[in-house]
Amino acid sequence: MTKNTWNKRTTLVHGGARRSQYGEVSEAIFLTQGFVYDSAEAAEQRFQSLGEDEFIYARYGNPTVAMFEERIALLEGAEDAFATASGMAAVNGALTSCLKAGDRVVAAKALFGSCLYILESILPRYGVEVEFVDGADLAAWEEALKPGATAVFFESMSNPTLEIVDIEGVAKLAHEAGAIVIVDNVFSTPVYSNAIAQGADVVVYSATKHIDGQGRALGGVVLGSREFIRGTVEPYMKHTGGSMSPFTAWIMLKGLETIDLRVRAQTASAKAIAEAVSKHARITKVSYPGLESHTQHALAQRQLGAGGTMVAFEIDGGKEAAFRFCNALQIILISNNLGDAKSIATHPATTTHQRLSPEQRADLGISDGLIRLSVGIEDTDDLVADVLQALDAG
Ligand SMILES: Cc1ncc(COP(=O)(O)O)c(C=O)c1O
Repeated sequence: MTKNTWNKRTTLVHGGARRSQYGEVSEAIFLTQGFVYDSAEAAEQRFQSLGEDEFIYARYGNPTVAMFEERIALLEGAEDAFATASGMAAVNGALTSCLKAGDRVVAAKALFGSCLYILESILPRYGVEVEFVDGADLAAWEEALKPGATAVFFESMSNPTLEIVDIEGVAKLAHEAGAIVIVDNVFSTPVYSNAIAQGADVVVYSATKHIDGQGRALGGVVLGSREFIRGTVEPYMKHTGGSMSPFTAWIMLKGLETIDLRVRAQTASAKAIAEAVSKHARITKVSYPGLESHTQHALAQRQLGAGGTMVAFEIDGGKEAAFRFCNALQIILISNNLGDAKSIATHPATTTHQRLSPEQRADLGISDGLIRLSVGIEDTDDLVADVLQALDAG
């Protein structure tokens, strides 16, 4: 991996690029499952020890995938990265590759449904004990970490209520307890992330979100030390089949080229929408970490330096009012992805978080009137006008 002296935007365009003998400008897609050896001896040698820029089989590694891994690792300030078929393959790979029966995990309870499923339903089946805590409560982390733990896991900004977990604070407690810190950083985005410098050992992204940013492909990535990525994650992933395809890696490389521009534009519009809805009579609550009224605004500023691309708000009138709002939108789409160029409205209680019991939803602040907005790159004024007219229509 090249040493990086570039600033972020330059890294995003050029980092990790490898050129073939044709000198192409746009990175090549090596759509090949395997690689040809000059001789039987060369094949034997490659299987014995893999040199830099040598490949065997696409499930193990591929030049296009390697370019994506290097670019995102440079961006995140991680020693290395392993690209995966989806965000969930990354979350599962990061956790399962380093855990064994008898281990203990402490996790924040506000998690994306599939992350919760791994921690609540899969890991205990294999003898891993999991304890859930209120992620925003450092005293709760401290208490839960007292018996020791192998790993902690949390989303640095939770889905859908945009609660921030203090990476530095939790990492300090986790390290004292001997646990590695695995952070799902999707909502924080790689643009604003400083998670490794703040104490995370492992950072995970669903690349499906801001990294692609154009709703085309599923993907994920695990970032961390070279030892963890190549010694722990890679053997697990390459033998269990969760590697990223070269075509997806090419899409994600192209996504990284523009991610900084997109996410900053999305963040500016998200703030404008959060400010506009805060003043609307039908809104009972707004959660946007970039607003001074957000209870964790100072932490968001310290950790991310921005409020991010997501806004959550509660409409007076419960599910019926929330549905009327969604159905009145003219630009913003009703869907469930996030980080996309197209703005998307989601009603978490009936879609992404439908599987939770009403009590669990209430505990996490997911009311029937809650809307999660993923703000896209459309014109800010058009987006604000769309949200306001849809609120007025209800
Ligand atoms: C916080 C978080 N983690 C992980 C994932 C899973 O990503 P993917 O859908 O790419 O598997 C998602 C997807 O919505 C998510 O929101």
